[in-house]
Parts: sequence; structure tokens; C-alpha cells
Amino acid sequence: MKIDVLLGLQWGDEGKGKIVDVLAPKYDIVTRFQGGPNAGHTLKFNGKKYVLHTIPSGIFTDGAINIVGNGVVLDPGIFKAEIEQVKAENPDIYKCLKISRRANLILPTHRILDAANEAAKGKSKIGSTLKGIGPTYTDKISRNGLRIGDILMPDFRQKFDALTQRHLREIASLNYTDFDLETPTKEWFEGIEALKQFEFVDAEMLINEKIDSGKSVLAEGAQGTMLDIDFGSYPFVTSSNTICAGACTGMGVAPQKIGEVFGIFKAYCTRVGAGPFPTELFDETGEKIRTLGGEFGATTGRPRRTGWLDLVELKYSCMINGVTQLICTKGDVLNDFDTIKACIEYEIDGKRTMSMPFDSAEEAKPIYKEFKGWKTDISKATKESELPKELMDYIKFIEDFVKVPVKMVSVGPDRNATIVR
Ligand code: GDP
Ligand code: IMO
Ligand code: MG
Repeated sequence: MKIDVLLGLQWGDEGKGKIVDVLAPKYDIVTRFQGGPNAGHTLKFNGKKYVLHTIPSGIFTDGAINIVGNGVVLDPGIFKAEIEQVKAENPDIYKCLKISRRANLILPTHRILDAANEAAKGKSKIGSTLKGIGPTYTDKISRNGLRIGDILMPDFRQKFDALTQRHLREIASLNYTDFDLETPTKEWFEGIEALKQFEFVDAEMLINEKIDSGKSVLAEGAQGTMLDIDFGSYPFVTSSNTICAGACTGMGVAPQKIGEVFGIFKAYCTRVGAGPFPTELFDETGEKIRTLGGEFGATTGRPRRTGWLDLVELKYSCMINGVTQLICTKGDVLNDFDTIKACIEYEIDGKRTMSMPFDSAEEAKPIYKEFKGWKTDISKATKESELPKELMDYIKFIEDFVKVPVKMVSVGPDRNATIVR
């Protein structure tokens, strides 16, 4: 069997959690392969809502094994809180959730460093979720990190203390003093105890053995392609490879073992934090999208910036990821608009282009195509034939433009509000 990968194609929050929860019953295994608690993946079913940060969104699917891969960075304190939340719904969590020994740990001082780095950047700050993501990946790449497997080593506490001291020197050099370390450290070690109740595995072995024996795997991306460390709007990005290639390095699977690549996009765009956003709306239309779409961060509660769909960006993301199937979410948020727009080209320095700007300061002016709004409530639709012609015209245009079929349309946050084409 091959591994199918599901990715966000915009700036995150496309509805990955919801769609993984919908697709999970078809899979034996669901994995996360990058990112950490900067992610907030929302699932809704049976009138309940869950927000997952580290745990794969297959955790509520009977019989599915969920694996946190080596590419993930894990904060024990946040993980413990997540376990408490999930346990009430799935008491089997200790059996069906496994963690790679190679995943890196987020220390309390990584979070402080994140805040110190952002404070030092002043006006040019990234708008990080301040979960310690950047500093943890920095330590991983500079070969200073602590990994899950270290927890069971006799010198774990010494390693923790040494890394903490190193961080404190760095924090002092940034003149950052506004922090408490005692409570977060206590919570962190409580999280370590909670973690020890799970099996730490060589996830790359486990995943490869499973696919070789005919089991199916769905890999759940976090963030989105425009937040990718290499192909996003650098430096306003996260610190991992959020793209399909990240699934290979974040789980230990070879490229030829990747099967379907599901690319998720919202019918419009949102972004949290700073950085370029060519189609951003600063007017009442943007406000209307934010209100109707409930566009407030699942992790930080921050209002999300909103704008029209950007097809230049979407096409680029499909190319980078090798997307084989598109999934459109949140079309229902646009139920009540006379006109809907999508960007089909950028104008940079007076020249039309389909390229993504290199410099985040470069102004890309969007060239729009207008569509007639559907002015119909699609949130109760259960099959394609119930979707209005105007919405189908919009979807058809997107398919033709990016040359990838839209195979699923999500019309509401609930598991059941999903139309398969
Ligand atoms: P993720 O990070 O990609 O998993 O997405 P988030 O959970 O951060 O944000 C998506 C939000 O939209 C959540 O509140 C979901 O419950 C909600 N959502 C997902 N799909 C749809 C949809 O088709 N329509 C509507 N109205 N809401 C949706
Ligand atoms: P999910 O998986 C939306 C954004 C932050 C910030 C930048 C860097 O829920 O789609 P970081 O904390 O990684 O240092 O922040 O990336 N960001 C997200 N935006 N959804 C996410 O995850 C995000 N994870 C990080 O807002 O601009
Ligand atoms: Mg999210």
C-alpha cells in the first residue's frame, strides 16, 4: 500500500482536522509528520467539538492507530492537556496512539526564546503562535535538541538542565526578562510523566512494516504550503517543511511510497500572523467573511486576516505538493455574497506574473476574475446535485485553472457536512 498525504494549500486552517476525521475510517493508520502545538485542528461530531494540536485527527476513529512522527515537535505540557481532553471520548488512547522516539521535545525555555526572539524583532515580528516551534527546530537542526527517546535515558535530567542553561544565556543576551520558569517547568515534567504512559516507537520501522503488509496510512499535514520554511513567504513562515516532501522526512518513508495527495483549500483565504497576503480584504467584505466563517485562531484565538481566493498561490501549491485531488472547504461561508472574486494573476512593478514574489516586501497586486454569488444556503446539501450552479461554476473554474479535480466539498464544520463528488 501507499501512504496518502493530506495538506493545507494556503496559510493554514483550511479544515485539515475536519477532513482527516472524515477520511480516517478508510485508513488503518493516521500520522502527523511535522509541526507541533502551533497547529489547531478542529473536529466536530455528535454535537461535540475538539481541537487537536499534536495528536493526529484519526484519534476518534475506532480501530485506527495514530502515530506522532519524527518530524513533529512535542510539548509535554500541551500534550498532557490534549490527552485529558481526548481520553473522555476515547479511553483506548493509550493503546492506539504511538510516538516516535525521534520526535524533538519543546522545552519551557524554547517557548520563552520564541517570545524573546519575537520581542527582539519589534515591528517585523512573525506573529508566531509562541509555542516554541522556531527555537525547537533550530536546536534540532543545530544538533542540540532533546528527543522523546531521551526521556528514558538515565541522564535525561542532566541533558534537560544543560539545554535549559544554554537557553537562559541566550535569553539573557536578548535582554528578555519577562518570564517565569518555575511553573512551566513543573507542568513540563508532569507532562513527561503523562508521556511515559505511551509507547515510544521507531515509527519509521512501524509505518514501513505496516504499508508493506497491506495496511493503509493517511499522513496529516499541519500549517499550509504558504507557511513552508522553503516555499512560503519567508521569513513569515513556520520552521518546518509543511509540503508533501515533509511527509517523507517527517515519517521516514520513501517518495515512491506516497500515493494520493489531498490538497485542502478554503473557498476564500485567511492568514494569522504577519506576512504578505495579496488578496487580503480590509473592508466590510473581509469583516463579513471573518464573522460568518468564525475566523479566529483555534490555537491562539487571534482574529484571522481574510481575503478572496488566490488561484496563483493555489496553483503554485498544487505544483509544489503534487496534489492529485482537491478538497474545497467553507464554501457555505460565502452563501450570501452577490459577487465572489478569485485572483488569477499578480501585477508586480507593473508586470503581470504567475510567479510567487521572492521578497516578502514586494507588493503583488491581485488581478481578479468575478463570479456570480450563489445566494443559497448550501450547508444542508448532502449531494452534488443539491449544490447551486453558481458554486459549481466557481469550482469548475478552479479545477480548470489549477488542473486538479475537486473531489470533495465541505459545507459545514460537522463531520457529516461533507459532499464527495
Ligand atoms: P485546520 O487547522 O486546517 O484543521 O483548520 P482549523 O480547525 O484551524 O480551522 C477550520 C475551522 O473551520 C474550524 O473551526 C472548523 O470547524 C471549521 N470548518 C471546517 N470545514 C468547514 C466548512 O466546510 N464550513 C464551515 N462553515 N466551517 C468549517
Ligand atoms: P494549522 O495546522 C495557521 C503561523 C503563525 C505565524 C507563523 C509562524 O492549524 O493550520 P510559529 O508558531 O510556527 O512560529 O508561527 O505561522 N501558523 C499558523 N497559521 N494555522 C496553523 O496551523 C499555523 N501554525 C503556525 O500564525 O504567522
Ligand atoms: Mg488550525
